[in-house]
Amino acid sequence: MKFSLRSLNLFSRKNISIDYSNLPEHIAIIMDGNGRWAKKKKLPRSVGHRAGANTLKTITEFCDKIGIKVLTVYAFSTENWKRPKEEVDALMDLLLEYLRDAERQLAGKNVVIKVIGDISVLSKEIQEQIIKTEKLTQSNTGLLLNIAINYGGRNELVNAVKNIVKDINEGKISVDDINEQCISNYLYTRGIKDPDLIIRPSGELRLSNFLLWQSAYSEFWFSNIYWPDFKPKDLLNAIRDYQQRDRRFGGV
Ligand code: IPE
Ligand code: IPE
Ligand code: MG
Repeated sequence: MKFSLRSLNLFSRKNISIDYSNLPEHIAIIMDGNGRWAKKKKLPRSVGHRAGANTLKTITEFCDKIGIKVLTVYAFSTENWKRPKEEVDALMDLLLEYLRDAERQLAGKNVVIKVIGDISVLSKEIQEQIIKTEKLTQSNTGLLLNIAINYGGRNELVNAVKNIVKDINEGKISVDDINEQCISNYLYTRGIKDPDLIIRPSGELRLSNFLLWQSAYSEFWFSNIYWPDFKPKDLLNAIRDYQQRDRRFGGV
């Protein structure tokens, strides 16, 4: 048992009671709305991104505490390079800072940190920090936090196809070995259960190229809350709604 009854009561305060024996194993979040949150407060977008990074820390710790196994967060998409250089630079600086800080703050909390996406085009400094943070947290046994950086679902599939063809050419696998499981094994998320619940705050009702293959049977939860304002109670609301869904996977 990871947490006491006392803390369970604490989480079900304010009438948000959830069934802790039926939690979504894997939650994925599209961390959206930082810019609009900042605009509303007449602050620069970069301040919104910083506030969003703080929300990520809080939500990560909360997920670990209540027993979620995997949390995947969308931090930077393959399309986000279209933004002004100043904003991209600020986001990259923030990611670097987050990964450095995570070593200190989250590793002590038993969180395993992994980065998914095409990191080969990121700066050498970020690439090295990713390797360092992943290595430092790899033997932890708590929540797995996947941070999607330069991630795009289509890019991930293109990459998988290339690697499958390469392995066929090198005789490592044959065409007959290609099936759904095989394709899953060539994705950045290999070995990780598909997300049970995908959360998108900020009011947008789309996937924006996130986990296209993996979301085939995910449950979706949308909210108008901007990511920097997202609180553990909002996550509990999402989990409570999820627990009321009937997941049929095409059956009856
Ligand atoms: C999400 O917030 C962060 C990234 C996409 C990197 P946005 O920056 O997209 O915020 P909005 O959607 O403009 O409010
Ligand atoms: C999706 O948000 C990407 C991340 C949250 C990292 P965007 O803000 O980039 O998505 P669109 O442009 O509104 O679809
Ligand atoms: Mg956005």
